[in-house]
Amino acid sequence: MASSTMKAVAVFPKTRELKLIEHEEPRITRPTEVKLRMLDVGVCGTDKEICAFEYGVPPDGSEYLIIGHEALGEVIEVGPAVTTVAVGDLVVPMVRRPCPHEECRPCRYGRQDFCRTGDFSERGIKGQHGFMAELVVDDAVYMNVVPPELRDVAVLVEPSTIAAKALFQTLKILQRLPWFDSSQLREREPGGRAYRALVLGAGAVGFLGALALQTIGFETYVYDRKPAPNPKADLVQAIGAHYVSEQTTQDFAHLLGDVDFVYEAVGAAHLAFRAMQVLGPNSIFVFTGVPALGAGQEVDIDAIMRNAVLKNQVILGTVNAGKADFQSAIAALGKFVQRWPETTRALITGRYPLDAYRDMLLGRPGGIKNVLSFETSIRTDNPKSLK
Ligand code: BGC
Repeated sequence: MASSTMKAVAVFPKTRELKLIEHEEPRITRPTEVKLRMLDVGVCGTDKEICAFEYGVPPDGSEYLIIGHEALGEVIEVGPAVTTVAVGDLVVPMVRRPCPHEECRPCRYGRQDFCRTGDFSERGIKGQHGFMAELVVDDAVYMNVVPPELRDVAVLVEPSTIAAKALFQTLKILQRLPWFDSSQLREREPGGRAYRALVLGAGAVGFLGALALQTIGFETYVYDRKPAPNPKADLVQAIGAHYVSEQTTQDFAHLLGDVDFVYEAVGAAHLAFRAMQVLGPNSIFVFTGVPALGAGQEVDIDAIMRNAVLKNQVILGTVNAGKADFQSAIAALGKFVQRWPETTRALITGRYPLDAYRDMLLGRPGGIKNVLSFETSIRTDNPKSLK
């Protein structure tokens, strides 16, 4: 059978190029595989780093890597052994694939997000082509079905899984406190205040984290660089959270030593370590950003260690997400849309045709989440989004 080709966006690390290419159409070769027609692919900081050749590895034997890992597709074909998804379903594919080593229990357990060997692959990032392509084939086990009513926001599922995994672990850690009761997040002790969270960064990961924290009852503060008033601050306020910025130090002062949970979503180590000052007793700090290496910075390591010990603090890193996190991100997104329909939709800046890939990946397009859409041939800005 003659093979046909499809359009895809790929980086060529050796020649340092980013191109729209023709790539052979993938075909189902195993009974458990499904074929997707891609609908939306989100652009994130990781994609931009790959396009700046700071990150990203092509598959073995390939000169290029098709990028894209935040995706929504429609199932158009299923292998004979597939029972979990059907033709017509909308699905969000997972990103990471297990390493081959027998001794890696996380991977053998289906939790490659905790892979111990480092030999995992990630679609669109490390060793496997990604989703910025017209068609994708993969095993059904990595597909997560999304209800049709979430069609317009489902591209936000993958970045939401970061918060889903972080919060799952945070709630587990909070259970080390024998008196902790998650139904009382809103009121820590009778008449007392809610558990308090600080989100560092009002980009997509930070914002989706803030929505999740607000939904489960934390009193949420979101830190970003620009002083209020500004459009991001308005969005933060629209979900009932508080916006704080560096300039408004009085906004910040009352948080020092009194925050139960910090959700870092900027990938800037200097800011993150400075923010550790806000951690209170028995608190948890989660890193989700991946900073570039080499910017040696001074931080007061004695104060950090002293507080960590004297205040029983937990400092945690988290990457990628498991199946359960995808499921809970989908459920959470459903809740966000119900409760804050306009704000949730405002996170998507616009949908742009594949041809706009250079602007989106190499430029500074602004907004919170830019989406390349396989269903549009014109730029469709979201009039309600942040510019
Ligand atoms: C992706 C994760 C991935 C991580 C590290 C993030 O942008 O969302 O799935 O594990 O990059 O490569």
